[in-house]
Amino acid sequence: MYTPEKEKELIQLTKKLLKVKIEDIKDIQQAKEIVEQLREVIRYHDWRYYVLASPVISDYEYDKLFRLLVELEEKYPQLITPTSPTQRVASELTKEFPPVKHLAPMLSLENSYNEEDLLDFDRRVRELTGLEQVEYSVEPKFDGAGIALVYEDGVFIRGATRGDGTVGEDITQNLKTIKSIPLYADFPKYGIKTIEIRGEVLIRKDLFKKINQERLEEGLPPFANPRNAAAGSLRLQDPKEVAKRGLEAFVYQITYAVDKDGNNLLGTKIKKHSEAIELLYKLGFKAPYKELKVCKGIQEVIDYCNLWEKERDNYPYELDGMVVKVNDISLYPKLGMTSHHPRWAIAYKFKPRQATTKILDVVFQVGRTGAITPVAKLEPVEIGGVIVSSVSLINEDFIKEKDIRIGDTVLVERAGDVIPYIVKVIKEARTGEEKPIVFPKNCPSCGTPVVKLPGEAVWRCVNANCPAQVIERIIYFASKDAMDIRGLGRAIVKRFYQLGFLKSIPDIYRLPYDKIKQLEGFGEKSVENLKKSIEASKNRPIHRLITGLGIRYVGKITAKTLAEHINCVEELKDWTVEELMKLPDIGEIVATSIYDFFHNQQNVKMIYELKELGVKTCKDKKEESQLDILKGKTFVFTGTLSCCSREKAQEIVESLGGKATGSVSKKTDYLVVGEKPGSKLKKAQQLGVKILSEEEFLDMVKEYLKT
Ligand code: IVH
Repeated sequence: MYTPEKEKELIQLTKKLLKVKIEDIKDIQQAKEIVEQLREVIRYHDWRYYVLASPVISDYEYDKLFRLLVELEEKYPQLITPTSPTQRVASELTKEFPPVKHLAPMLSLENSYNEEDLLDFDRRVRELTGLEQVEYSVEPKFDGAGIALVYEDGVFIRGATRGDGTVGEDITQNLKTIKSIPLYADFPKYGIKTIEIRGEVLIRKDLFKKINQERLEEGLPPFANPRNAAAGSLRLQDPKEVAKRGLEAFVYQITYAVDKDGNNLLGTKIKKHSEAIELLYKLGFKAPYKELKVCKGIQEVIDYCNLWEKERDNYPYELDGMVVKVNDISLYPKLGMTSHHPRWAIAYKFKPRQATTKILDVVFQVGRTGAITPVAKLEPVEIGGVIVSSVSLINEDFIKEKDIRIGDTVLVERAGDVIPYIVKVIKEARTGEEKPIVFPKNCPSCGTPVVKLPGEAVWRCVNANCPAQVIERIIYFASKDAMDIRGLGRAIVKRFYQLGFLKSIPDIYRLPYDKIKQLEGFGEKSVENLKKSIEASKNRPIHRLITGLGIRYVGKITAKTLAEHINCVEELKDWTVEELMKLPDIGEIVATSIYDFFHNQQNVKMIYELKELGVKTCKDKKEESQLDILKGKTFVFTGTLSCCSREKAQEIVESLGGKATGSVSKKTDYLVVGEKPGSKLKKAQQLGVKILSEEEFLDMVKEYLKT
């Protein structure tokens, strides 16, 4: 963890290093100094990006720093060290993953499913320890692929899969590409010579969705859930491919720690699990420090588990429960373990998100790119509190591979906000009445014969004016990730299309409001609101417009990359495929797709038409600001501030990319306290929210404020 002062220093250093040119460096002495500084700032920016998910520089600036480091290390190879950030991407293919013995066995956890199970667990712990009330530490149970990491003298030397619990596979090279795993962590400062840490490799839910979307567009089978995606990615033989998957690692248990004389530090120097997590977090790991709660007695544990079960969908990673651990590590030996699990911990599993149901029918939908997707209509079934009545069957290959038929009973999984998915067909339930699924030869919307391009798994309608495609493109343009036009959802778009009001995207900005007013279901007020949100969309940041164009393979992340490198969207018509490929994470397929889009006159015409209609296609001042130092941070103010009004202070936070809200919750990062604070202060203290004085807040922001 970095103190605010240290962060400031590193940001200043970043600014300085961004100006350094390789030609300015005259000798190895000077190179050494710059190389060390570069490593320090890159580590810091990796931490902001990969651990906090709140970067303070643009990808472009990051790449510039990284490239300079690579160039200097090429020029002066004697300066390369194994913990340099450049050593993360191994170039060689890993032929195999040799077996490696864990320092401590990787045990599993006992499961519990309800309050009674937890009460039983507590009773056993109290009996074995003789305590009246036990202090527990409760944290999320991450649903990914288990790993064990070993650090020697602070250096990450080995990482392994779980394997059979005693011996795992050595996947060090692949793990080195995960930037939330520090290559060096200052364990020696705490007298720790050798340490083994357990954790879980995960993929964020939104990224998982994107990966699956891309896989589908490339004709590859999608992953069933984020866990499979993470586990599969870890075992890829090419570390470069692994690096592309956006994997992250949470660490949640120190299983072995000794000093230089071989003395065990667990339970002696590292006394509590909550302290171990804090230590890992402080040393730059992604550890559940903010998520963890120390609970006095089992009732607090139960309440905290229930709270998380309700909130699980709002968490960016897939969780399958909570883990309850006795907080005092010195009690572990007394509690002991079975061959399967320790007696000092238990998993509290959330309600299952699988259910069986029957396929009633299959319909075929046409997407905005013309892809025809088979969708199964299901006998409605509740999964994790949501009624599921249809599920995508993805493509013809998926149906063949799983041998899905109309009338089949299927096992359906719905993981968080991830779309429902058919895990398997329950073949035992077949009656012989099931019917095969037949793909249509013509587009169900416009009748054009469908085609399957070589190398693709999907059938497509290639008529760009196909009504279904036009409607989907407009819906996508107005959607939350793109131009975010509230009030212009699926049903309204369809209705306006049928009425002839909305035949193309630019028509959104030419809607005949007087006619709409007369439609059934539209009042003065709702038309006014619609008009307002359409007007507001004209000034969205340009990356949203790029997303909204619906270019194949260009989701919101790629759109942001493009936006960072241009001033106006229309400029993209002058970019070559080669130039596009120089941008971070844009390969040939994506670059070609962007090039093709901007070489279709109809598309370029549409962009100019939008511009003419008042849609912003060029960046404004705000978008040019690179230092979003408060990005991802939520602030709450309480009491009277002497610098300015509360509104002004909130404005400052927002101008630097942060969020200002009215009340304290566990999502709040900082509470800024002015004179005579209200009850928010107490709540923040209870929740462990960081509290800042007015001066501390101003110190944090003042140098970024534009006068
Ligand atoms: S503690 C000896 N903490 O869940 C106990 N495990 O189903 C060490 N898991 O094998 C494990 N989140 O791979 C622990 N916060 C967490 C966890 C966690 C996920 C995994 C772990 C374990 C499995 C058991």
